[in-house]
Amino acid sequence: MAAQRIEGKPVAEQIKSEVREGVAQLIRDKGVRPGLGVILVGDDPASQTYVNSKGKACADLGMHSETIRMSADSSEAVVLAQVAAWNADPRIHGILVQMPLPKHINEQRVIEAIDPRKDVDGFHPVNVGRLVIGMECLRPCTPAGIQELLVRSGNDPAGKHVVVIGRSNIVGKPIANILLQKAKGANAVVTIAHTGMKDISHLIRQADILIAAVGRPESITGAMLKPGCVVIDVGINRITDPSSPRGYRNVGDVHFASAAEVASAITPVPGGVGLMTIAMLMQNTLQAARRLSC
Ligand code: GUN
Repeated sequence: MAAQRIEGKPVAEQIKSEVREGVAQLIRDKGVRPGLGVILVGDDPASQTYVNSKGKACADLGMHSETIRMSADSSEAVVLAQVAAWNADPRIHGILVQMPLPKHINEQRVIEAIDPRKDVDGFHPVNVGRLVIGMECLRPCTPAGIQELLVRSGNDPAGKHVVVIGRSNIVGKPIANILLQKAKGANAVVTIAHTGMKDISHLIRQADILIAAVGRPESITGAMLKPGCVVIDVGINRITDPSSPRGYRNVGDVHFASAAEVASAITPVPGGVGLMTIAMLMQNTLQAARRLSC
């Protein structure tokens, strides 16, 4: 039986239209237009694309946005000075420093310089800690988007065994903590697996919901899955493809065709989780603006 395709676009569009309404209401009620400040250091093409999309999304939803582009040799002090300026700027409610940063800049120091109330990436230790103990906080965008995809596609994780493959601070750890909470749209039993164990196939086979954030192209195949499971593929891997005009194409961590034969639902790559991140960033910016203006 063919699996349900969990498309990111309709869910992302729905969230963006809710945010658009929320923005208009905040302007009406409080005279506050949510504002996002983005810092990009260097000229990595993928990062430039992301940063441009963030600016466009803000304009589309009625938000204010500022983007500061810095050369790759900019000092850490210059980045920290811009963060400090936005921490004190009432027009800016969300601050995002695009990662990765050049090696000479300490990412953790930059993250910790952001006012936690403006940390729309949810990377500051204050927000990480609040998430773990179930307090209201700004949550990392991609994991928050995964939860929305699951719930809004009718695949509520409550009471399910979720296996997360990957332990990054951006995806693996936060999604595990989000779905573990005793809360609506969560309440799952969560296992975190990673490459530190040689063979994790027995863990993958136990997953009612598998969240793959491994960074290895098409490494999880249908034969490894529990029949009827739900697969969330967070991987975006560029592989060479001479038949494509660009010479490459993007694939997930999961081999889609074989997994779709076994799973009950699966997110495509591209077109799945990737589309959620900016929608959740917009939602976080609105949330930060609401909190800062009450
Ligand atoms: N680089 C890749 N993903 C992210 C993200 O979610 N936030 C930031 N700031 N940089 C990233």
